[in-house]
Amino acid sequence: MDSALPPEPYWPVEWVEDAGRQSHVPRGQLRLLDQRQLPHRTVYETYTDHAAVAQAIRDMVVRGAPAIGAAGAYGYVLGVRNGIPREQVYVQLLQSRPTAVNLEWALRQLHEAGNIAADKLLHKAHALLERERRHNWAMAEHGAQAILGDARLRVADRPLRVLHHCNTGALATAGWGTALGVVRRLHQLHPHLLVHVNETRPRLQGARLTCWELGQWGIPHRLQVDGAVAHLMSTGQVDAVLVGADRVTADASVANKIGTLTVAVCAAHYGVPLYVCAPLSTVDVQTVRGADIRIEERDAAEVVNPHGSAPDSRSSFAPVGTPVYNPAFDVTPAALITGGIVTECGVARHLERLHQNAEHSGMAEQ
Ligand code: MRU
Repeated sequence: MDSALPPEPYWPVEWVEDAGRQSHVPRGQLRLLDQRQLPHRTVYETYTDHAAVAQAIRDMVVRGAPAIGAAGAYGYVLGVRNGIPREQVYVQLLQSRPTAVNLEWALRQLHEAGNIAADKLLHKAHALLERERRHNWAMAEHGAQAILGDARLRVADRPLRVLHHCNTGALATAGWGTALGVVRRLHQLHPHLLVHVNETRPRLQGARLTCWELGQWGIPHRLQVDGAVAHLMSTGQVDAVLVGADRVTADASVANKIGTLTVAVCAAHYGVPLYVCAPLSTVDVQTVRGADIRIEERDAAEVVNPHGSAPDSRSSFAPVGTPVYNPAFDVTPAALITGGIVTECGVARHLERLHQNAEHSGMAEQ
């Protein structure tokens, strides 16, 4: 595989330099693609202060574990540039979304760099994003080769059919993608591919974002409601499941978008291999068990209203005032990850291997 990073037609997270300025104070701005408006409108917003970046992460202007890590890093640079105390900047950004460890991981790298100047922090943020992009690319190759080498997945006379939940593409990573990065590489190596896309209630990342990205990349796909997963598998329509992760704990439990556990239970029941694709920046060996992960709960409006705004009697799916439970993530135990965990270091099929990879990359100490 070519080691050059492929260009993307859109970047969800990007630092934009002000033209002509050369100074030790970084004068640029953070530009985010407003993912709430996709697939119908491609709107970019610019940010010059960390509190607005924290709000954008909370509101899911930017989302996906690695992408919020990158946005958080640039948000930290903005806060320091504006003279806000570093601890305050760190805490405010950290609190924007609690489940994906990438945000904490990225913020810590900048916060623990000490009292260095904002332009040096900006270099660190750029380096962090570049490294994540390279890791996406390596992960895509490892995952695609593993799937092509999986004897259970050798099909000759029909497309290879993979099921995907949520969105894990360039939009979620500011890079090539994690699980969808593997799908993209797989499609290059094995064009006879079909992606079954879960719509991913309530924010519809699958319907709105994954279908949009797969369409851009020319990868055949078909959308179904989340509730169709067991039916698809019981009727033999899925060869493998590929998902991303927001946090992988020391016992190889995987927090990911709500509904992943349902997919995993069905996959195990019907003997469909499930692969989790995540960079080592998503592996959190400090958290021992899946049950220790803090699961974000979001607003009821997301569940009862088609666009997540305040429900009223005309637009609400449910009677106004209906009590709602809206956990944004669930935790899949290691036993249900029957394909393996794909990282930039390869495919870990055993817990020990995941720990070796994490140690090798220095994640264990961070
Ligand atoms: O709530 P979101 O859209 O930020 O959730 C995203 C996911 O759950 C993704 O699967 C995960 O972040 C992996 S993205 C590469």
